[in-house]
Amino acid sequence: MNILVTGGAGYIGVHTCVVLLEKGHTVIVADNLCNSKADSINKVRQITRKEITFYNIDVTDEQALETIFLQHKIDSVIHFAGLKAVGESVKLPLDYYFNNVVSTLLLAKVCLKHQVNRFIFSSSATVYGNNTVPFVETLDPLPTTNPYGETKAMSERVLTDIARTNPSFSVSLLRYFNPIGAHQSGLIGEDPNGIPNNLMPYITQVAKGKLEKLMVFGNDFFTVDGTGVRDYIHVMDLAEGHVAALDNLTEGVHIYNLGTGQGTSVLQLIEAFEEANGVGIPYEIVDRRPGDIASSYANVLKAKRELGWIAKHNIKAMCRDAWRFEKNIEQLRVR
Ligand code: NAD
Ligand code: UFG
Repeated sequence: MNILVTGGAGYIGVHTCVVLLEKGHTVIVADNLCNSKADSINKVRQITRKEITFYNIDVTDEQALETIFLQHKIDSVIHFAGLKAVGESVKLPLDYYFNNVVSTLLLAKVCLKHQVNRFIFSSSATVYGNNTVPFVETLDPLPTTNPYGETKAMSERVLTDIARTNPSFSVSLLRYFNPIGAHQSGLIGEDPNGIPNNLMPYITQVAKGKLEKLMVFGNDFFTVDGTGVRDYIHVMDLAEGHVAALDNLTEGVHIYNLGTGQGTSVLQLIEAFEEANGVGIPYEIVDRRPGDIASSYANVLKAKRELGWIAKHNIKAMCRDAWRFEKNIEQLRVR
């Protein structure tokens, strides 16, 4: 299949491109590199020894999208492109609504025009807001608590409505939990610009000595040890989840949680990282981060039943792979 991967130079996108190429698909990436580097595409070539086409375009540019669809016979689209920082979305709501919702609208419009009927969308566990765990796909309505989450809920609704009026449109809405880890080669992984917002890249930078200590945001949640609980999933399992969704895509709208179903607290993740890698992580308990919920983890039965997919890597493997990549980063940059 010829697959257009928007945001394919980013963290999840680049790992998914590796898996798609290894399964024999042809991959065309569209990314404006606003949160990634072109070199990640070279790393995909290095890992897979396969060719991959890259367009440096903005997915909110309809004309640029048209050019790609005229140039290639696209069979399926995986739409990763988006801004993803929850805190930033509160400060810059217009940027988030424009980028994340307009990109989805235009991409869907161009797909319909070119009779491309297979669409996989990157949604998020954020759409469940503060619901009771484990989150199950049937929860409705979606009580999002920030503009970022709202862009995902809106995009889901847009795609659902389009599928309703276009019976051959096949959409998979994938709600990711917390991806961490990196490809086993250590060549690609999560390399955020500036100080990381997310827990694992913060931990790896503390381990490296780039940051002095981890701030643990609150130890008074109603959880196993008072710190926030999340469903961490290895990014390669997530990548495989996309292939499973693609292989099983049928007409209509299908929603799947992609997680492990296991909750891990911040303190448990620190301990697992220390054990897996033999490196200490100094930390300090500080106030809660505004907007954080106590617990988020998935009910994963639907993906298992309908896609035959389950996450295979454990927390230790996630910690080991994240650390291997972090240790490599400087060398990778000078190459
Ligand atoms: P990322 O920032 O590493 O990757 C996103 C990519 O999209 C980047 O390469 C960026 O340059 C590109 N991009 C953004 N806006 C664009 C535009 N208008 N045109 C072209 N390219 C554009 O993020 P990621 O972690 O790989 O996330 C991928 C998708 O998954 C996002 O939609 C994100 O919201 C969603 N998601 C991520 C997480 C997570 O924790 N990482 C969790 C749930 C959902
Ligand atoms: N945390 C800390 N210290 C830090 C960073 C995080 O204690 O420096 C804690 C948080 O309070 C939370 C947990 O670690 O309890 C995980 O926080 P992250 O920021 O790594 O992840 P979130 O669950 O807040 O959000 C992430 C992505 C969202 C995505 C969501 C669900 O940032 O984009 O997972 O998939 F939508």
